Amino acid sequence: MITYSDELKEEIRLANDIVDVISQYVTLKRSGRNFFGLCPFHKEKSPSFSVSPDRQYYHCFGCHKGGDVFNFVSEIEKISFKESLEFLAERARIPLPVDENPTFQKNQYLKDKMYKINAEATIFYHERLYKPLAKIAQNYIKQRKMDNHTLTSFKIGYSGEHHELYQHLKTQGFKDEEILATGLVHKNDRGEYIDRFRKRLMFPIMEVNGKVVAFGGRRLDDNEKTAKYINSNENLVYSKKKHLFGLNLAKQANEKKMILVEGYMDAVSLYQRGIHNVVASLGTALTEEQGRLLRKYCEQVILSYDSDGAGQEAILRGLSILENQGCDARVLQMEGAKDPDEYVLKYGSGRFQLLVDQAISLVEFKIKMLKNKYQLENAKDKIRFLKEITKILSDVENKIEREIYIDKIAKQYHISKEAIYAEVNKTSYHSASNKVLTKPIINHKVPKEEISEAVVKRENMVIYLLINHFKEAYEKIVTNITIEDLQVRENKVIFEKILESSAEESEKIIQCIANIEDAEIQSHISEILVTDYEINSVEKCIEDIIIIYNKDRLSRRKLEIIQELKNETLTPEEITKLEEELNRIIIELAKGK
Ligand code: UTP
Ligand code: MN
Repeated sequence: MITYSDELKEEIRLANDIVDVISQYVTLKRSGRNFFGLCPFHKEKSPSFSVSPDRQYYHCFGCHKGGDVFNFVSEIEKISFKESLEFLAERARIPLPVDENPTFQKNQYLKDKMYKINAEATIFYHERLYKPLAKIAQNYIKQRKMDNHTLTSFKIGYSGEHHELYQHLKTQGFKDEEILATGLVHKNDRGEYIDRFRKRLMFPIMEVNGKVVAFGGRRLDDNEKTAKYINSNENLVYSKKKHLFGLNLAKQANEKKMILVEGYMDAVSLYQRGIHNVVASLGTALTEEQGRLLRKYCEQVILSYDSDGAGQEAILRGLSILENQGCDARVLQMEGAKDPDEYVLKYGSGRFQLLVDQAISLVEFKIKMLKNKYQLENAKDKIRFLKEITKILSDVENKIEREIYIDKIAKQYHISKEAIYAEVNKTSYHSASNKVLTKPIINHKVPKEEISEAVVKRENMVIYLLINHFKEAYEKIVTNITIEDLQVRENKVIFEKILESSAEESEKIIQCIANIEDAEIQSHISEILVTDYEINSVEKCIEDIIIIYNKDRLSRRKLEIIQELKNETLTPEEITKLEEELNRIIIELAKGK
């Protein structure tokens, strides 16, 4: 794959002024040094979206999204970072290099043909659906209650009885090897070309951009001897584990939430009934790649698997894949129907929507599964159940979230809240102390909300000074403040990166920290870059900050010594030394006041 050089990236960046680019999507008004507008990434009434023309950065103080012009374009166009580069190169009419590697070029050529063949086949199958010869498919569609709008939205089609597709593609001038590469046709032992899909209802599988990469074909009779569905084999443009059926349409719903179902018909059926944010993983358990793809388009995923089908294990795996990718993952609980398609047909989309709203989290799902293992009327079982749930609960790091669960569980399973708290505190105490020991400082994450505002502001100021007033600030800051002095994880990482780099001016420093691949850090950086700190004297500001850090450090050491002095195994010499140090610190601190 071709990668673009940093120089080219900079050239593209310079050619695309961030205010110009963002103005195409957001109405911006100038106020002071920055521009403001309504954030395009979340709903809001008063503008908290800010763009800095000096820094060429944007940041939303409401949803905390932020970054440079590439980040903005990839976020708003829902494309990858590399694609955003290509998008902006095109916008500025900057030519991009092409890969000269001959196999790459050959593959590119073949891929291009395959997309064209798939597109041609999609139209061919779709048009066929409306012809008199497709009676059997038309009846089936009626029976499944699909309407015409659905058929055209998904480009559903019908593959005829003979080998019409092959014939058709030949008349369009495609070569045998290109047609074979798509898997839509294969060659039998006698050297004849055979359509893979015959007498089936055809579902095109598309990429996010709407390009068709594969097909699924459903049989139209009840003949159990043939597979209910056959699907395209993997090929140069299609990989089963990387695609999601329906994503191209679901993406347009622009919702924070996506419903994940198993089957083609589940997605189609929900879509027809107004639930547009739905994608299908097509029978397989959700893969890491599908999870990542999904994560790009939403914040919450509701797993809505068949009630009998997928094992609990598949659900658990899907949930943890999504949670690990920072997605809020939930499971929908369905009774009275075997799959979402049957459910909406029976009870309507309103009731399905209700199930979506009531979907439960991974923690609740685990507890529910546990419950099935125990007889809660039995006292011994209840105690075991309590111990097991506390293990699950102690993994919940957010205190408020944990309290909500405890509340719910207490009510649902008739266990006293105090009993749960007592157990949880025991377990989390142990796991917490283990964590502190094993985690390196740089990753030790105190959530920003738990650090006092003044400290966050002061740390941000340090970073701000390093970026904007490098010459005056650098020496003084690095000789007086160390990475251990900082508490906010994002600031630690950024600080370290600045120390590592040899950049000496704002632009270079921004470039180097812009390469940190971590959404939270990027958001933090953009927040600092668009904030107006109103500094009158840089020198005075640095001095004040350093004084505070020195004081902090002394206070911390003071507490440490007081602790150490309690140790009964200290020798008299050690005690004297510590006491002397303590006295010095107390004097120092008093002087500073
Ligand atoms: P289902 O059997 O739940 O299919 O399999 P469905 O979508 O509900 O279809 P209908 O309602 O019976 O028409 C779920 C998914 O598993 C894959 C398909 O992707 C299907 O949508 N599958 C199933 C196959 O690939 N081959 C099969 O033979 C069966
Ligand atoms: Mn079904």
